[in-house]
Amino acid sequence: MDLHSRTDYDKGTLNMADLDDNPWTTLESWVQQAVAAGIQDPTAFHLTTLDRDGFPHGRVVLLRDTRQGELVFYTNYESEKGQDLLANPKAGATFFWPHADRQIRIRGTVTKVPAAESDAYFGSRPVASRLGAWASDQSRVVASREDLDAQFQQAKSKFSDGVVPRPRHWGGFALRPALMEFWQGRPSRLHDRVKCVRTENGWNLTRLQP
Ligand SMILES: Cc1cc2nc3c(=O)[nH]c(=O)nc-3n(C[C@H](O)[C@H](O)[C@H](O)COP(=O)(O)O)c2cc1C
Repeated sequence: MDLHSRTDYDKGTLNMADLDDNPWTTLESWVQQAVAAGIQDPTAFHLTTLDRDGFPHGRVVLLRDTRQGELVFYTNYESEKGQDLLANPKAGATFFWPHADRQIRIRGTVTKVPAAESDAYFGSRPVASRLGAWASDQSRVVASREDLDAQFQQAKSKFSDGVVPRPRHWGGFALRPALMEFWQGRPSRLHDRVKCVRTENGWNLTRLQP
């Protein structure tokens, strides 16, 4: 296996002057640019949580909203990540956009989004996805694929009139960043990195060595 391929990062630059005083504006702009680029899953990010023993757990989720300066994603509150976050509402998030040589790292605290907001988002999902939320006890063991398919059929029969309410165990989390780091790949591994730390009076921006 040859694992020695090398990418030369030359798609852009990141200067302090390019960044808005509020880095949230930059995050929204980078997300919008990824969406406009037509890549698969442009809003996907890696979410890290900590379990009760302090071990980190990572997985990919989709960003569904950036309202009020928070990253909103939806999941099963009883899943591994849900239980981690309800016990310890601290999380890390990492976006990677290879088409643009860009990464954003975020650290912050998490809250549940209000039930009415989760209801509104759940109602906007296709019926099959809504049934899937009822059919799957996310992160729990299932004996077979057939059993999982049977759980989906049961959910379908239960809601045969097509009205599928949001399960109480499913909803949104909102991650409010305390720290954000923007990374733009550059030639010769001299990448641009800008770290943004939230303070009482706004954000403090500093350049980091790559
Ligand atoms: C591209 C992609 C997008 C995903 N989006 C979500 C999502 O928005 N919400 C979610 O609960 N799981 C999502 N998943 C599945 C998670 O990565 C993960 O397998 C699942 O949530 C269970 O994680 P947990 O056991 O750590 O709670 C996505 C996976 C991929 C690869």
